[in-house]
Amino acid sequence: MKVILWNGSPRKEGNTYQALQECVGVFAEAGIETELIQLGQMKIESCKDCRACAKLGRCAINDGFNEVIDKIREAEGFVVGAPVYFGTARGDVMSGLQRLGMVSRCGGGWLYNKVGGPVAVARRGGQTMTLSEMLMFFYINGMVVPGGKYWNLLFAGPVGEVQKDTEGMENLRVFASHMVEVMQKLYE
Ligand SMILES: Cc1cc2nc3c(=O)[nH]c(=O)nc-3n(C[C@H](O)[C@H](O)[C@H](O)COP(=O)(O)O)c2cc1C
Repeated sequence: MKVILWNGSPRKEGNTYQALQECVGVFAEAGIETELIQLGQMKIESCKDCRACAKLGRCAINDGFNEVIDKIREAEGFVVGAPVYFGTARGDVMSGLQRLGMVSRCGGGWLYNKVGGPVAVARRGGQTMTLSEMLMFFYINGMVVPGGKYWNLLFAGPVGEVQKDTEGMENLRVFASHMVEVMQKLYE
């Protein structure tokens, strides 16, 4: 089994990345393969509503994002990490989710039953709105979102501050463990 994780931050090893590493550790212990994609380093255009994906089975925009879509198609798990920018997820994260969702739906809805969820990181506020925004993607695509012991949100401003949010980091480990349990039930 494999889990794809997106770091939606342009800060390559920033707080979102460090938070996702808590999940990576849990997956590794369970023998689940992971790949963390540095989405924040890519330039992702928004969906153009051209519907070409219905014929092509992939996105018509040639900006390298099809490779990311293919990786998720082949994986059983998917975790999206986003920094909060002005109360919402960083723009490219939502552009990516919308294009991914469209290609899946045009291809018969292959995101169905993939297991995962969103993670939101902010200095002070906006995480719950950002989680809600990203959860809309998971639910409309028939995905399975295991809960943790709290919501998947963390408080951090400067790079590395997320390590001080011990409760938030512990919750991510619980969420990832629950993901493992559900993936094993669905896919083993
Ligand atoms: C453009 C921009 C907007 C931001 N908006 C918010 C916000 O609305 N609420 C908040 O608490 N933090 C906000 N922040 C702070 C980041 O969410 C915070 O620094 C976070 O740790 C960044 O994660 P990263 O290290 O993974 O990039 C903003 C940062 C930037 C660059």
